[in-house]
Amino acid sequence: MSRTSLTRYLIEEQHAGRINADLRQLIAVVGRACTNISIAVSKGALGGVLGDAGTGNVQGEAQKKLDVISNEILLEANAWGGHLAACASEEMDHCQPVPDTYPRGDFLLLFDPLDGSSNIDVNVSVGTIFSVLRSPAGTEQPTDESFLQPGTAQIAAGYCIYGPSTQMVLTTGHGTHSFTLDRETGEFVLTQRDMRIPEDTQEFAINMSNQRHWEAPMQGYVQDLLAGKEGARGKNFNMRWIASMVADVHRILTRGGIFIYPWDKKDPSKAGKLRLMYEANPMGLLVEQAGGAATTGRERILDIQPDHLHQRVPVFLGSRNEVAEATRYHREHD
Ligand code: AHG
Ligand code: MN
Ligand code: MN
Ligand code: MN
Repeated sequence: MSRTSLTRYLIEEQHAGRINADLRQLIAVVGRACTNISIAVSKGALGGVLGDAGTGNVQGEAQKKLDVISNEILLEANAWGGHLAACASEEMDHCQPVPDTYPRGDFLLLFDPLDGSSNIDVNVSVGTIFSVLRSPAGTEQPTDESFLQPGTAQIAAGYCIYGPSTQMVLTTGHGTHSFTLDRETGEFVLTQRDMRIPEDTQEFAINMSNQRHWEAPMQGYVQDLLAGKEGARGKNFNMRWIASMVADVHRILTRGGIFIYPWDKKDPSKAGKLRLMYEANPMGLLVEQAGGAATTGRERILDIQPDHLHQRVPVFLGSRNEVAEATRYHREHD
């Protein structure tokens, strides 16, 4: 059987009427940008790309050199194709409309250029997360407000993981599919059609060092996980935490599990750590399209009407029955 490249997959989706030519081009361009980021990441110390950039971002985080390089690669690749109206990124204070010197298209692209950047210097998997929205009708010059659409409005979402192999996981609203980068041909090849997350799991992913700051329903839920077979849940749970959301979500898409980044009392705004527009929404769509669920512990992530570009939310996602269970602890407590 011949291999299905990302290019061929996208053309077949276009012929089936599920995506248009501009979206096909946009995803292909993001794929090429991710290939370039993958090359930069894999050079490691030999490429002079490790360490801090010496600057900060709007999130209040110290930027790594690769945060900045990856952001630049994505911006540059998407500027001139004519398919985009504007980009927004974790690493930029405000959105960046396509320069007037280039044709402007209908789509808005959001990205976390390098997710898990605390792991770069220790050579652990990192990734790029992206989300595509349509520019609101009649918008001449997109602004930050143009991006404030709920996750249900996403036209496409995906991530690229830079691990032992580089993979792109993509949805355009018709299932979640995985492509592996063939480093010899430079081509992404379809390696798993229709990823499915098992409905039940015995594995959870959480940063336990924040436990003392969690609210009561989180304490109760995790206590019952840790109680194992003898406790209320009647089964043993294993724990994994890579501290790259891309890598933790990739494991969950591959073999199930629940990923949690809850709100904790260090943050009086009750927002959580992860960003709605660049992390929670795209991952929420990918997970739902693979039969899983994504909530804030109380409501479906994709239903949230954002009120600002860099909004943060608590995240519970993965195996649907386990997400329902965690969500039940919160709802019963309220
Ligand atoms: P980013 O590197 O894009 O800023 O995101 C980091 C996020 C996410 O990838 C991960 O799940 C989480 O931060 C890790 O947080 P802790 O350092 O609290 O474990
Ligand atoms: Mn960051
Ligand atoms: Mn991130
Ligand atoms: Mn990031």
